[in-house]
Amino acid sequence: MAPHPDPWRAIDRQPDPARYVRMMESRSRTPTQARVRRRFLRFCRIAPGWKVLEVGVGSGVVARDLAAMVGPRGHVTGVDRSRVLMAAARRRAREEGLARRMDFRLGDAAALPLRTGRFDCALAVTVLLHVARPQAMLRELVRVTRPGGVVGLQDQDFGTQVLDHPDRALTRLIFEGVADRMYPEPYSGRTLVRRLVQLGLERVRLLADVYQVRSLDPFTHSLLKRRTEIAMQFGLIGPRRAAGWLDAIERADAAGHFVFTFNYYGATGIRRGGVALS
Ligand SMILES: C[S@@+](CC[C@H](N)C(=O)[O-])C[C@H]1O[C@@H](n2cnc3c(N)ncnc32)[C@H](O)[C@@H]1O
Repeated sequence: MAPHPDPWRAIDRQPDPARYVRMMESRSRTPTQARVRRRFLRFCRIAPGWKVLEVGVGSGVVARDLAAMVGPRGHVTGVDRSRVLMAAARRRAREEGLARRMDFRLGDAAALPLRTGRFDCALAVTVLLHVARPQAMLRELVRVTRPGGVVGLQDQDFGTQVLDHPDRALTRLIFEGVADRMYPEPYSGRTLVRRLVQLGLERVRLLADVYQVRSLDPFTHSLLKRRTEIAMQFGLIGPRRAAGWLDAIERADAAGHFVFTFNYYGATGIRRGGVALS
């Protein structure tokens, strides 16, 4: 069977898994991504001393922010199905002196190796889009959260990518063509509220946010370049059109009018059966 086109489904089987560690860490350093991520974590109302789970933890970018939020009395558990990413997350937690309040476990989001009701908060950040069984993951996030605890999701929505490019038809072909072929649900961001409501969570809240860049930083540059590579793999465009599309982007950047924006949606809900949070 041909491998799934989304590399995030099976990082350890990619030709260079360490590339994805670099990509996550590079994304985390982009000021707009740091702002979007941290704003969502504040929206989750995580308190010092809490036990928090992050599923699809990757190289640990979000988990390290969480460890700072829960403080020395709290704890953060990260789960991921990639050994390479788990090793990177452990190494970085040690380097940042956070290892005592963090642990990382290899596991599948759809069958978490964790006891029922043991977390104050369970999160999946830019993960729902990538997992093979999103509904099973969501049920697991609810299961491991205590009554009255918080379940939170944050995801991009690939129907909201905006690039000021002279060739709008080609831009649409690359963005929509790639997203439609890569992901079963490219518009996952806008589905989060519905999913939490349908899981029976209470007090479901939404935070819509915009990732916005005005210059071609290394992460955004490689993101747009990857879009052309994937569009070529899917046979949507040839190398000449790909190069022309990227040239126009680089020219816009050199002229100081590059604009790329992308919506992120965050949603939280409270697991029934406990004391409601204020
Ligand atoms: C785009 S990364 C997000 C990493 C991290 N949450 C962040 O925002 O920096 C998606 C992550 O989901 C993980 N993943 C994909 N399918 C999974 C599954 N079935 N079970 C657990 N993790 C999975 C990938 O290995 C990857 O680390």
